[in-house]
Amino acid sequence: MDEDREQIIVESNQNGEKIFSHAMTEFVSDPEACLCAKRSIIGDLIYGWGNAWSAQEEYLGCCLGHALRVRAPILECGSGLSSLLVGVVAKKRGYPHWVLEHMPIWAKKVQRYLDAYELDSTVVCTKPLRDFGDFAWYDPPLQSMPDSFALVICDGPPGNTKGGRYGLASVMRDRLKAGCVVLLDDADRKKEREIARRWTSELCGTVDMLGHSGDQYIKMTLVDKSSAITLPGVAMRWSIGQVP
Ligand SMILES: C[S@@+](CC[C@H](N)C(=O)[O-])C[C@H]1O[C@@H](n2cnc3c(N)ncnc32)[C@H](O)[C@@H]1O
Repeated sequence: MDEDREQIIVESNQNGEKIFSHAMTEFVSDPEACLCAKRSIIGDLIYGWGNAWSAQEEYLGCCLGHALRVRAPILECGSGLSSLLVGVVAKKRGYPHWVLEHMPIWAKKVQRYLDAYELDSTVVCTKPLRDFGDFAWYDPPLQSMPDSFALVICDGPPGNTKGGRYGLASVMRDRLKAGCVVLLDDADRKKEREIARRWTSELCGTVDMLGHSGDQYIKMTLVDKSSAITLPGVAMRWSIGQVP
């Protein structure tokens, strides 16, 4: 850790906002360098944001790595720190970033920060979850959204929602094409692994279990239905065993 950063952390240990704003300045100036930096700027951002529900460092790093690689719209389910950081990347790269949020209080907080950092490539859609029968999910304004998304960051709705996060496959199916990557957090929960398994067969994708213990989050890559048929089993490739 360099001296001035250490000084900041010592002096403002009680002051997450100060750490956040310092780390955010660095992130805004060069997100790629921040991801590669030896000291954890992402860790400072998580600490400074101060929400126990925030995405953790590995997942956030993976989301940002993908956001830096894609060249097309990003969809995010559930808002928070990730929305700001992906918002920075989306603005720099010049593609739209749509965020679905059902709780006005969180949307308001995120929007306040988006405005403060002038992250105007990000659109936060705030609406209560809609009951679709077997599941509840966001109620996105499909008619004004992009035709397809290259990356989906799926960290909402909360786990106790009816049907969990399943609704993505049903509601957004037409906007998720071959090559799209879906990053699903909280894969340590059995329910998320079951949802991912359902997605792979309904959307046709391959799945990798990722994170330090191999079950922190799931990466699903959508494949062409025709290639899945030619290569039997490709749609259900689990890197770490089968879904328990
Ligand atoms: C896991 S959070 C999303 C976190 C986001 N990806 C981030 O990096 O901060 C998923 C949803 O939980 C809700 N949420 C966020 N913070 C919360 C809190 N402190 N208490 C209760 N619900 C919260 C919001 O509705 C949010 O969309």
